[in-house]
Amino acid sequence: IVAFFQPKLLQGKRVVVTAGPTFEPIDPVRGITNLSSGKMGFALARAAADCGADVRLIAGPTALETPWGVVREDVQTAQQMYELALSAASGADVFIAVAAVADWRVAHVSPGKIKKTGDGLPPALEFVENPDILATVAHLPEPPFCVGFAAETDDLDNNAAAKRVRKNVPLLIGNLGPDAFGREDNEVVLYDEHGVTRLPRADKTALARELIAVIAGRLPRGLF
Ligand code: CTP
Ligand code: CA
Repeated sequence: IVAFFQPKLLQGKRVVVTAGPTFEPIDPVRGITNLSSGKMGFALARAAADCGADVRLIAGPTALETPWGVVREDVQTAQQMYELALSAASGADVFIAVAAVADWRVAHVSPGKIKKTGDGLPPALEFVENPDILATVAHLPEPPFCVGFAAETDDLDNNAAAKRVRKNVPLLIGNLGPDAFGREDNEVVLYDEHGVTRLPRADKTALARELIAVIAGRLPRGLF
């Protein structure tokens, strides 16, 4: 019903969203991950579809249902998300990176379960950095309109503004975490080349609609 009344701001546009955490295995029974319910990313995917977009949602492990009309692909690791996102982003109009991507993966995943040695010494794990999905997409020769998210624990304004420039994205949406995680509402700040816009706390569904309208308003106009 909501979709029916929604202005079709993204009719014919191809939108790619990454959402949820990634999970990086240590061995067959363990891994490292990030805090992310996926709610904000799924809400954005849904809001974009309601606005008439063709939406591909690349999701790490979450407990959420696929929004109606959205094509969803599930992944586990950052590497898998990177590969799918890169192929989906070429030819897309909008790329929204909401996923809480693990910054590091374990260099050598053990094929068998790592056992305690009995001497009280933990295993020495070696980590390697994962590729930056958003920065890679945003540095493509003809990138889609790229939107990043950043949860910071300190100095949101400086960290988010610097991150926007470093990743080469026109719009970065920040929130002072980690209290946003798993909640139904969120309070965000928009960073773009003009500066800073603070949005009032809102339900993630309503916020997603508002953000999609902001994004739609910044896309290059077609001929019609
Ligand atoms: N991101 C990504 N790929 C990564 C890491 C982050 O696509 N490997 C995206 C996230 O989806 C988010 C944005 O980049 O949209 C910012 O993520 P964040 O973790 O805040 O940025 P980092 O560059 O990883 O910086 P930090 O050291 O603060 O974690
Ligand atoms: Ca990170």
